[in-house]
Amino acid sequence: MPLQTTEHIWHNGKLIRWEDANIHVMSHVIHYGSSVFEGIRCYQQPTGAGVFRLDEHMARLIDSAKIYRMPLPYTVEQLSAAVVDVIEANGVTPCYIRPIAFRGYGEIGVNPLKSPVEVYIANFPWGKYVPGNAGADVCVSSWNRLAPNTMPALAKAGANYMNSQLIRMEAEINGYDEGIGLDVNGYLSEGSGENLFLVRGDVLYTTPLANSVLNGITRSSILQLAKQLGITVVEQALPREMLYICDEAFFTGTAAEVTHLRSVDRILIGDGTMGPITSALHKAFFDIVNGLAPDRFNWLTPVNVKVEEAVGV
Ligand SMILES: Cc1ncc(COP(=O)(O)O)c(C=O)c1O
Repeated sequence: MPLQTTEHIWHNGKLIRWEDANIHVMSHVIHYGSSVFEGIRCYQQPTGAGVFRLDEHMARLIDSAKIYRMPLPYTVEQLSAAVVDVIEANGVTPCYIRPIAFRGYGEIGVNPLKSPVEVYIANFPWGKYVPGNAGADVCVSSWNRLAPNTMPALAKAGANYMNSQLIRMEAEINGYDEGIGLDVNGYLSEGSGENLFLVRGDVLYTTPLANSVLNGITRSSILQLAKQLGITVVEQALPREMLYICDEAFFTGTAAEVTHLRSVDRILIGDGTMGPITSALHKAFFDIVNGLAPDRFNWLTPVNVKVEEAVGV
């Protein structure tokens, strides 16, 4: 997907021009993957625009940095304010927001501690991530997700996405929209960039954090909505074959939002259409982010961008 540029990027507390946001090829991150990042969406509502669960994303960025002993000299509040500043300076909504912190130019060698930490925040228009409004056709990947105590799955680290790249490339080359990784014990984990939910009967299942998944913010939002809608939710280790016998399945994620799965390994899920529990959750989610229902969980942080400047994705 080609990147659409905007005018400004936030860097260590200041807005700089997009074309000036460059780093040296000898920066630590280029060689050793030492970055942590976030992906956040800003939605357009009829009366304005709002960033989805901004503080939770920034808290996760700080957690990811903490796991990697990367001191971030900013609080959640300062990082959230920076996101609002860059969106308002660029005047682009709806948009995708990409905060990133990494080890920059300093020393060579694996130990990152003497290389400076750089923080950037960019925003840009970005469309649908998992293709197919009719539902995604996915496969179980031949690649496993990260094993416990190797790469920490709760950190959203750039290096984790080498595993995601293997899963996604294999899926697309074999004609699927996305791949699902199993954990090291063969239990279901998640997609290359999405959490996984299954429905069997009237119970909603999702894989727990111990199965090498990212603590997804869309995942936690869906769990909140499900509880409010009175849907029974079970977080437990799930065998691979649950994918083949479930009635409904969907991915959640900032990029994928709520994307229903039509088939897995060419086996149809239910009748292939979006089932009733997925539909109810999909509607509840989109009604809030699109401003068609009250923001009853305070999920949206308003940004002040003139509507005539809004860019469609
Ligand atoms: C590996 C992985 N799992 C799950 C998710 C979903 O997380 P979130 O809903 O916070 O975007 C993402 C996306 O960030 C991801 O990259």
